[in-house]
Amino acid sequence: MLKTDNSPPADKPEIYQWLIDQLRALLADETDLVANAANTAALIYHTLPDINWAGFYFLKGDELLLGPFQGKPACVRIQLGKGVCGTAAAERKTLVVPDVQKFPGHIACDTASNSEIVVPLIKDNKLLGVLDVDSPALGRFDEEDQKGMERLVKIFMR
Ligand code: SME
Repeated sequence: MLKTDNSPPADKPEIYQWLIDQLRALLADETDLVANAANTAALIYHTLPDINWAGFYFLKGDELLLGPFQGKPACVRIQLGKGVCGTAAAERKTLVVPDVQKFPGHIACDTASNSEIVVPLIKDNKLLGVLDVDSPALGRFDEEDQKGMERLVKIFMR
């Protein structure tokens, strides 16, 4: 179960360690993908400061299909190689975009989003989808966030 008795710390490395502990506890007794994706998105969205969207796209056929998320309604289907999500999925690597306006082909779901991080979900060398987190702040995500989000994805993928 989620530990609700403690609130998240303020500084970045500690906040990710806190998130990791919470996520482990939250997913410990459940294996359902949709339920776990929904709780992961909610945990990230409600813990990290300056976030306006957090959620999943899952690979279905040759496109990404919207999964559980928190934030405003978003585009449902993204072609592989398109936008930040489709590019991170196609290249199978995390993309940190400090200014989405400068990313060629960026797909604007929420006009409030100014920066974005997308982490691919890969299991046994197979692409399953992406975790996408958006912020209204420019340059919101750095290497610390990349490391933290990749650790969260690892736990989610177990
Ligand atoms: N901006 C993303 C689309 C998804 S939304 O941000 C939720 C992209 O360019 O792929």
